[in-house]
Amino acid sequence: MTQAAEIGSASSGDDQGRRLVLADRREVVLRALRPEDDRLYPEFDSYVTDEDRRLRFLVALREIPQSQIFRLTHFDRRHARAYAAIAPQTGQLLGVGRVHQLSSDEGEYAVLVRSDLKGLGLGNALMDMVLEGARELGLRSVLGLILRENVNMIALCRELGFTFSMTSEANLVEARLRLD
Ligand SMILES: CC(C)(COP(=O)(O)OP(=O)(O)OC[C@H]1O[C@@H](n2cnc3c(N)ncnc32)[C@H](O)[C@@H]1OP(=O)(O)O)[C@@H](O)C(=O)NCCC(=O)NCCS
Repeated sequence: MTQAAEIGSASSGDDQGRRLVLADRREVVLRALRPEDDRLYPEFDSYVTDEDRRLRFLVALREIPQSQIFRLTHFDRRHARAYAAIAPQTGQLLGVGRVHQLSSDEGEYAVLVRSDLKGLGLGNALMDMVLEGARELGLRSVLGLILRENVNMIALCRELGFTFSMTSEANLVEARLRLD
């Protein structure tokens, strides 16, 4: 098990961001993801291993394609929310969490943390933001498709109270959380 993050003083609102102190004492700002954050992605992606990229996107990718980066950063806030973890000193992107609406009451979430920063509490903090965002959207439940071997994400979801079910694909499990 990893050490949980210690939440530092929080200033309210996604625009200003929330300050967070990770388990290694590193300070991070969590804020809403902006369209112009697309330029931060290539450097962020260079710290993501092929394996973690596969766990996030469910397919093998040597890098996150530019077209995908555009879609991830240019989205309709009426139907989606996304959050960036930023290093305040350098402005580097350290992690991202998102949720988008699948139907009137259900959304799909995803999270990706820089591979060298895993296990410090960032994924947990991003998931908290994502669940808040899902509630803002008025969703009643969220779901995610997780590769069976992704024990970290399964453990994280279990801690958050998600339930798991099989899917038609043997290598995937569906994790679902009711928000009401
Ligand atoms: C899954 C992921 C988001 C977790 O982020 P993280 O910052 O490493 O996770 P945290 O440090 O916040 O840990 C949260 C929980 O995850 C689990 N976890 C994280 N690292 C773990 C490890 N090495 N071993 C076991 N459990 C682990 C634990 O339950 C942990 O809770 P704890 O801190 O109370 O022990 C991150 O590993 C990642 O980006 N993986 C690649 C992409 C991916 O799999 N995305 C999910 C698909 S949607």
